[in-house]
Amino acid sequence: DKGLAVFTSGGDSQGMNAAVRACVRMAIYLGCKAYFIREGYQGMVDGGDNIQEANWASVSSIIHRGGTIIGSARCADFRERAGRLKAANNLVQKGITNLVIIGGDGSLTGANLFRQEWSSLLDELVKNGSITAAQQEKNSVLHIVGLVGSIDNDFCGTDMTIGTDSALHRIIEAIDAISSTAYSHQRTFIMEVMGRHCGYLALVAGLSSEADFIFIPEMPPKVDWPDRLCTQLAQERSAGQRLNIVIVAEGAMDREGNPITAEDVKKVIDERLKHDARITVLGHVQRGGNPSAFDRILACRMGAEATLALMEATKDSVPVVISLDGNQAVRVPLMECVERTQAVAKAMKEKRWADAVKLRGRS
Ligand code: F6P
Repeated sequence: DKGLAVFTSGGDSQGMNAAVRACVRMAIYLGCKAYFIREGYQGMVDGGDNIQEANWASVSSIIHRGGTIIGSARCADFRERAGRLKAANNLVQKGITNLVIIGGDGSLTGANLFRQEWSSLLDELVKNGSITAAQQEKNSVLHIVGLVGSIDNDFCGTDMTIGTDSALHRIIEAIDAISSTAYSHQRTFIMEVMGRHCGYLALVAGLSSEADFIFIPEMPPKVDWPDRLCTQLAQERSAGQRLNIVIVAEGAMDREGNPITAEDVKKVIDERLKHDARITVLGHVQRGGNPSAFDRILACRMGAEATLALMEATKDSVPVVISLDGNQAVRVPLMECVERTQAVAKAMKEKRWADAVKLRGRS
């Protein structure tokens, strides 16, 4: 009577539906029950209709849809033990002890904490009469497997996170569109792309669209960046280029850790070069729309592997994330990846830029 529940948490990303579909269908294929938990951790805390059994048809025709059909949320309640206690009760009442969580590093870290606390939560539920000793015994171990859904590609331990490729498609389509009008009017466009703590989208979009200058958080420019920027843009113009494109990751900063915004960049260009400069902020368009073929297949492979990992888990198994390594979907210890991801954040906070790049570079 093994079964699993799947949920999506944090910011959505294209390909999450394909992952949900693969988890559910692989579970059913293996003869197991599959559940949706709607609205992420909030649905787990609130219970009721948020936890529903899924069937083969409930995931039909979603592989191509962006977003997440089961909803996602950033949940404050789950950060408190009281919220996690409610969530544990709701899961035990349905006999669910296998979870696939599709989200970013914050969501995956939360899942790991939940798993560590599980037996003490169950003790408390027995004590307050919410569950019986028999239920406690039957549901004594919680297994979790993570899939990284994020357009930012900001998670260490996987080559690609689900949604990144689709977001890149959105971004380069927008840059191509902007470039044609920029060309006509000999304008300079400063494009802000997502990536709060990670410059992957800005970097790859910039490289693949011939941008003239890219600002990313992991590698802040030297203090004389305004000179370098203007020299670069002016050089391109004098070589006959009719436009300039500058990409700014939303988390870009200088070496002191102060933000560098699209407005800051525009001000420099306005004052020094007197170009006709405009800003385009791509915003949530990057996270919307249908997933690319790559993200659909990536999510399918990862979802199927997540279900297999859960079905094979024993009480001593460590929680894993399903990662892309080369072209293989592999299982990597969850906390190893979370710790490395947090080490990047720490290095950036402490302005150890070379360390941040090195740590990030290990994929
Ligand atoms: O984490 C993904 C991300 O897309 C970031 O790049 C961005 O800063 C953030 O989500 C936006 O989140 P929200 O949709 O909550 O504003």
